[in-house]
Amino acid sequence: MSKLLEINNLSTNFFTPRGILKAVNNISYNVNSGEIVGIVGESGSGKSVSALSIMGLVPNPPGKIISGEIIFNGQNILKFSNSKMRKLRSKEISMIFQEPMTCLNPVLTIQRQLTETLELHLKLTPKQSFSRSKELLSMVGIPDAERILKNFPHTLSGGMRQRIMIAIAISCNPKLIIADEPTTALDVTIQAQILDLLKTITSDIGSAMIIITHNLGIVAKYADRVLVMYGGKIIENSPAEEIYYSPKHPYTLGLLRAVPRLDAPIKNQLETIEGTTPDLTESIIGCNFSSRCEFSTNKCEKEDPPFSIVGKEHYSACWESNKIPKP
Ligand SMILES: Nc1ncnc2c1ncn2[C@@H]1O[C@H](COP(=O)(O)OP(=O)(O)OP(=O)(O)O)[C@@H](O)[C@H]1O
Ligand SMILES: [Mg+2]
Repeated sequence: MSKLLEINNLSTNFFTPRGILKAVNNISYNVNSGEIVGIVGESGSGKSVSALSIMGLVPNPPGKIISGEIIFNGQNILKFSNSKMRKLRSKEISMIFQEPMTCLNPVLTIQRQLTETLELHLKLTPKQSFSRSKELLSMVGIPDAERILKNFPHTLSGGMRQRIMIAIAISCNPKLIIADEPTTALDVTIQAQILDLLKTITSDIGSAMIIITHNLGIVAKYADRVLVMYGGKIIENSPAEEIYYSPKHPYTLGLLRAVPRLDAPIKNQLETIEGTTPDLTESIIGCNFSSRCEFSTNKCEKEDPPFSIVGKEHYSACWESNKIPKP
């Protein structure tokens, strides 16, 4: 598989009245063509900011990418002009957000929103773009396309709106789709349908996907590889199957224990990870998880563990990675 996206030592800060907030702190990872990469982590761990950094959409001020490289298709896109970035966003990389109403325009029909993208970026004629819109809606499982196209977003259900967002996101056959919590606003059955749909579509159009979620159960099922973020850093990167059975970071272990598993006896209560996430405006000495970690040693409190190889294509930032039990 060829490398599509390569992120090297990326750091994104917010310059806030409380001080410099290190939202994304020196992260590196790759995405191959056609690969599905899941990013998991608690609220505030930097998942969305890392995605917005790729899209060139970090609000500036107060945010700024302060170092690193984002190589997409062989080019460092951090060096791109605004207009070049806009083109890249419409054609090559597209993003699906958590709440579709924030992206769909409430005063335009679905048809306008779909055909506008197609006419502007693919230079289709109105007739061509209308027929392509119908085709896209049927790809995302909307049967009555002609009727739906005439509707305004607020008249549709949440699941339907998310399908429309996916239709817009795939309309120009992007090489990479970033889906940021695409299903949290939906109920559980619809969630599964949308995730199945995303997986089928990315494989049909041959695009890669980064899927961001709180739920390790979701990534285990849908992703090829999983990145775990904690306090702005990537603390584990592993093939999806392996991380589920053999995590090598205590934080990942904690997340896994908090997810209901089909293959384990039902517990009365799910475990939660005690303690709170680090304050990203403070500089922390040692491992930023040590205050919450049951395996923490003296060394963990003094020295930040490097990201090291712990298995085949499996990396973890933990001094005690060989002591982590099965979940
Ligand atoms: N516009 C902003 N101004 C200041 N700080 C911000 C801004 N956007 C994000 N942050 C901070 O950056 C950090 C990372 O936020 P981010 O949105 O990436 O978290 P997340 O992992 O996506 O969380 P969630 O799961 O809740 O979506 C947080 O501490 C957040 O408060
Ligand atoms: Mg987020």
